[in-house]
Amino acid sequence: MDTLGVSPAQFRELAGRTVDLLAHHLGELETARSFPVTSGAETERLFCAPIPEEGMGAAALDALSEVLRHSCPRSPRFFGYVLGAGDPVAALGDLVASVLNQNVTAWRSSPAAVTIERSMVRWLAGALGAPGFSGSLTGGGSSANLMALAMARESRQPANESGARPGAVYASTQVHMSIPKAVALLGLGRAHLRLIPVDAGFRMVPRALEQAIEEDRRAGRNQVAIVATAGTINTGAIDPLEEIGAIARRAGLWLHVDGAYGGLAALAVPEKFAGLTAADSLSLDPHKWLSQPLDCGCLLYRDRTAAQNALAYSGDYTRVLSEDPVEGFAFFEESIELSRRFRALKLWLSLRYHGAAAFRAAIRADLTHARQLAKLVGEAPELELLAPVELSAVCFRHRAGPGASEAEANRFNAAILKKVIARGRVYFSNTTLDGRFALRACFVNHRTEAADVEAIVPEVLAAAHEVRG
Ligand SMILES: Cc1ncc(COP(=O)(O)O)c(C=O)c1O
Repeated sequence: MDTLGVSPAQFRELAGRTVDLLAHHLGELETARSFPVTSGAETERLFCAPIPEEGMGAAALDALSEVLRHSCPRSPRFFGYVLGAGDPVAALGDLVASVLNQNVTAWRSSPAAVTIERSMVRWLAGALGAPGFSGSLTGGGSSANLMALAMARESRQPANESGARPGAVYASTQVHMSIPKAVALLGLGRAHLRLIPVDAGFRMVPRALEQAIEEDRRAGRNQVAIVATAGTINTGAIDPLEEIGAIARRAGLWLHVDGAYGGLAALAVPEKFAGLTAADSLSLDPHKWLSQPLDCGCLLYRDRTAAQNALAYSGDYTRVLSEDPVEGFAFFEESIELSRRFRALKLWLSLRYHGAAAFRAAIRADLTHARQLAKLVGEAPELELLAPVELSAVCFRHRAGPGASEAEANRFNAAILKKVIARGRVYFSNTTLDGRFALRACFVNHRTEAADVEAIVPEVLAAAHEVRG
């Protein structure tokens, strides 16, 4: 007896109700508060009730409206972190993927899914000018970065059999937190992550990189990889990829480019990314700048053998019996994951529905919105920009008045941010640049229009007024 059975008719009814709820939610995004009216106590009360012993049937879905009400809406005025708004067509792909419940380990367990994922990887690589690269979709940029550094370590300092030794990895001071995490997990030792200084545009200084590499070489230290960033998390800076690529080649180091935030902007403005494809590996995040619902990251790499050397290790129970190059393909030979969800379906559906040109146009619109905000900040005497705007992140602050110390300015701007979020009209986040607390708006939201950008400065000024009391 199937105690979990749901008939096709019941499924149609449940799905219909859910889709109606979501369509209503999408219709309200335009005017939604940018942060829900909620609290930790309230979410605990609502969502931590004991699980019933007897099923509630369709009434279980009643609570979904509370889930929606206590979530951060991806409204046109959401500018936090680096997070796309999520394409609803792609979300339908996620629903189909879940109902099909394909396990995207190998072609034999999911023929269509493996083929679509390989096709999406080929499309991404080709569209970014790296047509020979292979790869896979991942849970995000962090896991893509971890797999890339696993490949780097195994190619320069094999450790899979005998264990890891310390090894230097070079990245700028602006590197994303996932790289120190990966360095630690791979046993290279965070003490051996060399943080290279940046210039006034927050880009890695190639001369300083060369010096650090030379110093380690003279001292006889093991050297593994350089990580360049194409779109730093703080300011969207793009490291000088061509020069760094040349340094990596001369030094014989693996070059990984972390393009989780910015790499996909090369679809729209390739001229900003010269040297991108000199990388041995490249991380991308379609759940950031291709508006895919979480999760959808991607790792591309030049040499499949390097991926297999680092990541292939199969049990007999997964042995693939086909010799055919398509039917014999297995992602688990090139990935840390065995069971994998059908992430490619949403991307494939969404690209087919909207067309590639629509995505390039959305990225260009985000770049324009960032320049628009930078201009508006420049025109407000109370505000100042804290970094050049290279892509779509805008870091700025309130000057906090004449004579304010850095510590006072930091406290004042932190209070402004809290107030802005509580007011609920726009949402953005924060970072710290050279010790200065920065308000940070990042545009990777296809729903944003110029009028939404215009709302930011007045909100900051109104919040500042309220903070002063
Ligand atoms: C430059 C960079 N690298 C890596 C990541 C991590 O990506 P994810 O959050 O998808 O793991 C981010 C996330 O913002 C990022 O901006």
